[in-house]
Amino acid sequence: MADTSLPQDALFLGFDSSTQSLKATVLDGTLNIVHSEILHFDSEFPHYKTKDGVFRDPSIDGRIVSPTLMWVEAFDLMLQRLSGKLDFGKIAAVSGSGQQHGSVYWKAGSGLKLSALDPKKGLLDQLGDAFSIKESPIWMDSSTTEQCKAIEKAVGGALELSRITGSRAHERYTGPQIRRIFETQPQAYHDTERISLVSSFAASLLVGAYACIDETDGAGMNLMDIKQRAWSKIALEATAPGLEEKLGKLAPAHAIAGPIAPYFVERFHFNKNCLVVQWSGDNPNSLAGLTLNTPGDLAVSLGTSDTVFGIASEHHPSLVGHVFPNPVDNKGYMVMLCYKNGSLTREDVRDQCADKSWEVFNKYLQQTPPLNGGKIGFYYKDYEVLPPLPVGIHRYVLENFTGDNLDGTSEHEVKEFDPPSEVRALVEGQFLSKRGHAEKFGLPVPPKRIIATGGASANQSILNSIAAIFGCNVYTVQRPDSASLGAALRAAHGWLCHKKGSFVPISSMYMDKLEKTSLSCKLAAPAGDQELVAKYGLFMKKRLEIENRLVEKLGRL
Ligand code: ADP
Ligand code: XUL
Repeated sequence: MADTSLPQDALFLGFDSSTQSLKATVLDGTLNIVHSEILHFDSEFPHYKTKDGVFRDPSIDGRIVSPTLMWVEAFDLMLQRLSGKLDFGKIAAVSGSGQQHGSVYWKAGSGLKLSALDPKKGLLDQLGDAFSIKESPIWMDSSTTEQCKAIEKAVGGALELSRITGSRAHERYTGPQIRRIFETQPQAYHDTERISLVSSFAASLLVGAYACIDETDGAGMNLMDIKQRAWSKIALEATAPGLEEKLGKLAPAHAIAGPIAPYFVERFHFNKNCLVVQWSGDNPNSLAGLTLNTPGDLAVSLGTSDTVFGIASEHHPSLVGHVFPNPVDNKGYMVMLCYKNGSLTREDVRDQCADKSWEVFNKYLQQTPPLNGGKIGFYYKDYEVLPPLPVGIHRYVLENFTGDNLDGTSEHEVKEFDPPSEVRALVEGQFLSKRGHAEKFGLPVPPKRIIATGGASANQSILNSIAAIFGCNVYTVQRPDSASLGAALRAAHGWLCHKKGSFVPISSMYMDKLEKTSLSCKLAAPAGDQELVAKYGLFMKKRLEIENRLVEKLGRL
């Protein structure tokens, strides 16, 4: 078998430019974490006045953006922080992960600026005027309903768009966002020479030139033909004129974006041979970091958004969920469901009902019974994707529900629950919805196992609820930031593919030694009692019925 070992003294650096923070993880040649770092946007960069890393525009319904320059400044500060703690000369390759769908608009002339950065100055000083749109639309935005409708109509319908690109039109997807910019700010669109995703934007900083969009994150735009892994002419035409030129080329996730720019060699003493591997989206990087490569396994990521994902060998077009090329397999796919109401909604309920404390929140979860005495809640702090329901809270009580059948039960709407029941209704609701929609979408339910990740996977009571509702063992990896870990792993993978001159299966890097690396996962919550799992099945059925009625009454897309 080919030698797939990594140089023992080399380091591999992975970033994650996420919604609320910029994170970094460093792996050594044995795939063990030697360092990690986090910068929270709100507290480190208060001058941008973001809340949870974003601006919610009060004047335009659903508009949610982040200041592009905040990401530039964060990158600068992260490198300064890391330079005191790491020998940058040992880093063989760098890669990264970005929140998916968000877009960056480079003004005409900025490509030249990128290629001529002065190592005596910071990035912010030199790129202050590089963007034609100062506030990047991000994945939380839901201001593009009209653009979604228009794009679906132009390509022949929602299912056809899903067949071509892997998803129907979604408000947060980059194509509808670009169309909106073209329609509402035509001059800024005209002045833009390159549109990057958050992932390819950061890769561009590192290589000192516009980096390609990688094929996996590119599938989150409603613009790429997912089978061909090439821009779709019909989707481009349905979106905005002259777009292909502004997007540049696509590249596989394991490809080299370029050598690191001289700016970083001189300013931070990177080795001039250090390679920058294509960046990709945060969920795809998590798939890599969790070593999710077995059909039947599911990942549940509990960050600002909640996502559920697994792998698949084929693409089946659907109106729900998303299909992307697998970032670490040159043939397969990753399939995913996304919820906008994840951690921030849990935080809201914690703050309103549980004294702003996770401890109290968990105590309430522990002291309330499974099935919550028939109390069912729907909590949408932001316009939800799944189901497509607007901001609002809906609470119901299911009378006479024993868990054995639904005969003779009836539900009625109520205005409030007591605080402990509110916490349980939120948590049970979030994971029953994931179980129900995962099943409908064709994901493996019950899964063989779940690997949980993201900030809230540090919460044992939440992990116990997942195990009880899905009826399978729940595992976690060493650290909850699997996106930056996956990026570091992909840096090593890209480096190896480059060295071998062709694609190498990523698993060959850790096969029989996974347990000795920081990628191994451990059992965090054992599968729940199967009788209860069946009762949750009925509860879920009822919940989906109520949800369908809410969608008929209030749904937008
Ligand atoms: P992102 O990568 O999207 O910026 P993270 O994966 O870093 O988000 O997760 C951040 C979230 O983790 C916070 O919003 C917070 O609510 C959640 N979190 C952190 N610790 C806990 C905990 N003990 N219980 C529940 N949620 C937690
Ligand atoms: C995925 C999605 C979010 C973002 C931010 O479709 O919108 O999960 O990637 O994490």
